Amino acid sequence: MPWLARLNSQSTPNKKHIMERRADFVPVGALDKRAESMRAPAKRMRSKRELLRGLVAQAPFVAKNFRLYFRNGWRRHILRTKVVAPYAVTFYVTHKCNLACSYCTQKEPDVFSDELGTAETIELLRRIRKESDSIVITGGEPTLRSDIEEIVAAARFACKFRSVLLITNGTLLDRQAGILGGVTGLVVSLDALAADPTNPLSKPAALPKVVENLALAKERLGAPRITISTVIEEWNIGEVERLLDWCGEQGFVFAAQSAQMEKMPNLALLRNARYQALVDKIIERRRAGQAINGTPKTIETLLRFREFQCYPTMFPRVYPNGDVFYPCEPLRKIAGNLLRDGSLRKIFARGKKMYGDIPPCQGICYLFGNVLSHYYVNDFWGLAGDFIQ
Ligand SMILES: C[S@@+](CC[C@H](N)C(=O)[O-])C[C@H]1O[C@@H](n2cnc3c(N)ncnc32)[C@H](O)[C@@H]1O
Ligand code: SF4
Repeated sequence: MPWLARLNSQSTPNKKHIMERRADFVPVGALDKRAESMRAPAKRMRSKRELLRGLVAQAPFVAKNFRLYFRNGWRRHILRTKVVAPYAVTFYVTHKCNLACSYCTQKEPDVFSDELGTAETIELLRRIRKESDSIVITGGEPTLRSDIEEIVAAARFACKFRSVLLITNGTLLDRQAGILGGVTGLVVSLDALAADPTNPLSKPAALPKVVENLALAKERLGAPRITISTVIEEWNIGEVERLLDWCGEQGFVFAAQSAQMEKMPNLALLRNARYQALVDKIIERRRAGQAINGTPKTIETLLRFREFQCYPTMFPRVYPNGDVFYPCEPLRKIAGNLLRDGSLRKIFARGKKMYGDIPPCQGICYLFGNVLSHYYVNDFWGLAGDFIQ
């Protein structure tokens, strides 16, 4: 489960490995000249010793998962509530953005929240750290904050989050390169590998700069700590396939979800043969060992819009001023403020009193964390089995 393992991994990238990989970076222009198909390497059976070593290296991650498994079991079956414990907190540090992606709901959210100053933002991080060891910093575009390097460093070194992931459009990374010294993983969003300057505020228009910045990030972090996250719509199915190949080539982790419009997935994608073939290919590559976010089951559920139950408090959403959504951001209800109320636990308890338990919306928001929450709570062992498949 690369994303989760990355959420929890702490070791620093190996310099030699970075230097070796640096030479592999393929500029966008070279992609069309690619002669060989980009197959993932055949999966090699791991020896018992390697498995044991892997388990010991991931011990805090394994322990955290078991702790949550038992706590969630208690809440679900004894307390009979769907309000489960947080796994990782998503913190929106700003709503501002230098792009305007057609599908984005974050740039101008229905519920707006002002940014806090640096000291108060770091205080927010401290509060979050009391209830979770993993933070995902996002926005808007987080690199637009002039204090983002300080915020990331505080998260990693002062608050000691085990995992600090930052999601970015990648356009400004070179101006805020200090971020790369603090994050344990970086998620860069790309929707195509072909640059297209037609709409100057789109991701394809920003591609040349983003690819340049990705080279910098790869040099500092190493490719396995970088995830390329893509949003699938009908127009870019072919481009997503190229991104899948490119990630395999570069050693980046590949992640995909479909564009959610008004909280709903585009069901028409299911009637598109090219989309179905793309999903098959992503799952095959995952089975063959390419670094892809999720497991075959979670990818199938996410991209083929299979039924699932959402447990959104597993991935709480905190807005720039500390407001916390209950039960989830798409339902647009704020249950409290972390600076004022002190803890997610208190805020969720109040949210439950005000708005009731998690509504039976049967999982309409096909976002990675939501789908993952279903498997974590309802099919933990199935998920574990799917992971090691
Ligand atoms: C809101 S953005 C914020 C971070 C940064 N500005 C970026 O684009 O990476 C976080 C992630 O959500 C994805 N995203 C935004 N709107 C979406 C939507 N309607 N459906 C699915 N994913 C979406 C983006 O592509 C990005 O990977
Ligand atoms: S770059 Fe990110 S925040 Fe900005 S408009 Fe696109 S998806 Fe939204």
